[in-house]
Amino acid sequence: MPRPQVIAGHRGCFWLNCDGATAAGCYRVAIEGSRVVGFAGLLYAADDGHVTTVAVDNTCRRRGIATALLVALAADARARGCSALTLEVRAGNTAALALYRQFGFAPAGVRKGYYTDNGEDALVLWATDIDTAAYATRLETLSAGGAP
Ligand SMILES: CC(C)(COP(=O)(O)OP(=O)(O)OC[C@H]1O[C@@H](n2cnc3c(N)ncnc32)[C@H](O)[C@@H]1OP(=O)(O)O)[C@@H](O)C(=O)NCCC(=O)NCCS
Repeated sequence: MPRPQVIAGHRGCFWLNCDGATAAGCYRVAIEGSRVVGFAGLLYAADDGHVTTVAVDNTCRRRGIATALLVALAADARARGCSALTLEVRAGNTAALALYRQFGFAPAGVRKGYYTDNGEDALVLWATDIDTAAYATRLETLSAGGAP
């Protein structure tokens, strides 16, 4: 069992991180007290990090937990030498789109009818140049609760 570490303090709360990293990717889990309140995962593909999942307990949203998880994943990807992050998101997922925009994700394509439950399109987003000093500053700003 990995040893939990504080990954973020924000708006008076602190989240512990239990991370798991392999050569293929990494996972970050936000824990508050004894409860898992969020998780996020990333797979590596050459120089890219593919964000495969981000979710926060619906009673704990808008408290910066997903931001803290993504800051941690992006830092993992930078440490691994990645220069870009990518992901798919439902075209109508305005909450996730607003979150990802803060990390510099921009749409690069559409996968029509990607989600089989309702046929919704997926937007393919990319955040590039994550290996730059400017992106490190963006992560620091987000980590401190600021807007990039
Ligand atoms: C999307 C999700 C992960 C966001 O988690 P969260 O912990 O609430 O996000 P944060 O508190 O870090 O929000 C960071 C920013 O994202 C944006 N954001 C987050 N939720 C939003 C919402 N419901 N509406 C509009 N903007 C939103 C805001 O800009 C927010 O900053 P602010 O609170 O200072 O305005 C969460 O809503 C969730 O788990 N949704 C269901 C699963 C999902 O859709 N995952 C993404 C799949 S691609």
